[in-house]
Amino acid sequence: MEDETPKRPRRVRYKGTHPKSFKEKYKEQQPELYSEDVEKIKKQGRTPAGMHLSICVNEILDILKVKPGQIGFDATLGYGGHALEILKRLKKKGKLFATDVDPFELPRTKERLEKLGYGEDILQIRKMNFAGIDMIVAEAGELNFVLADLGVSSMQIDNPERGFTFKVDGPLDLRLNPKSGKPASEILKKLTQEELEEILVENSDEPYSKQISVAIHQKIKQGMRIETTTVLKTIIKEALDNIPKNLNQDDVKKCLQRCFQALRIEVNNEFGVLEQFLEKLPYALKSGGRVAILSFHSGEDRRVKKSFQYLFREGIYSEVAPDPIRASPAECFSNPRAKSAKLRWAIKA
Ligand SMILES: C[S@@+](CC[C@H](N)C(=O)[O-])C[C@H]1O[C@@H](n2cnc3c(N)ncnc32)[C@H](O)[C@@H]1O
Repeated sequence: MEDETPKRPRRVRYKGTHPKSFKEKYKEQQPELYSEDVEKIKKQGRTPAGMHLSICVNEILDILKVKPGQIGFDATLGYGGHALEILKRLKKKGKLFATDVDPFELPRTKERLEKLGYGEDILQIRKMNFAGIDMIVAEAGELNFVLADLGVSSMQIDNPERGFTFKVDGPLDLRLNPKSGKPASEILKKLTQEELEEILVENSDEPYSKQISVAIHQKIKQGMRIETTTVLKTIIKEALDNIPKNLNQDDVKKCLQRCFQALRIEVNNEFGVLEQFLEKLPYALKSGGRVAILSFHSGEDRRVKKSFQYLFREGIYSEVAPDPIRASPAECFSNPRAKSAKLRWAIKA
């Protein structure tokens, strides 16, 4: 008689010594079980799958000057790396409020931090957009410090199912919260060629925005379904092939990065929510309260810089960063994602 017991699904094993796909990297995704493997990967200057290496940690701590008993807000909890360092400095006194919109990573981070001893007595996590910082203030009172580390985490980028990167095949989604709003594939269908061109220029300064938007729009008109990262990548690459300029592999890669970034910004209304956050920020801070914002591209940095400088001229901030702080060469070597980071700060008057 045949055994009817359902077989336990087998874990995907490494095919060799170098796991390539996200699923094969199961060791990297469990640092608590495979700490040696994870440390080895970090030493090679790579970010282990399912993990995020926090950027400019010391520089941020220098700015925020967290003290026991203070009330603070980490607007972008992510993997919780910055939050953990802040919590250590609170020394069990005070409170850290934290938000993230990601419904998958948020519970994992909450659990990880709870296991390290940071439960609800000291850490209050909310699944919400940081544009609602006023709601945090309504609950917490005025804040001593605020941190925002904008954009996406490595966990989100690395997971092919989230569709954030052209480097692996996946659904063309790009939502920070896939349970709300529309995926990039749906949004693309509704855009006119001119609207798409504007998005590529506004969000990523894409120099080939015309050619790329025309190519994408033509394919959609011909009835092509652009529902995966690979299909979009292929269309963009074909559009670049028709440009008289001779683009090398690196130019093409950068262009793909810009196009995916521009779409991500559109899908998540990233500039819109950042502007709301920046407007509400001075009312959220106590006098002497400190804010640090880490941004990863010119569209973000421009908005942060303009807001800080305007509110400084108005006397609402007493001091603002004269120039952005950059990650050290050593950090950029061990974490290439730090290369594009720009850190700005302000102090409430
Ligand atoms: C760069 S990661 C933060 C990493 C974190 N600082 C750490 O040390 O692990 C950015 C995070 O912000 C979240 N995020 C982006 N925009 C957001 C928004 N408007 N509101 C709340 N969370 C947001 C993303 O889902 C992501 O988890």
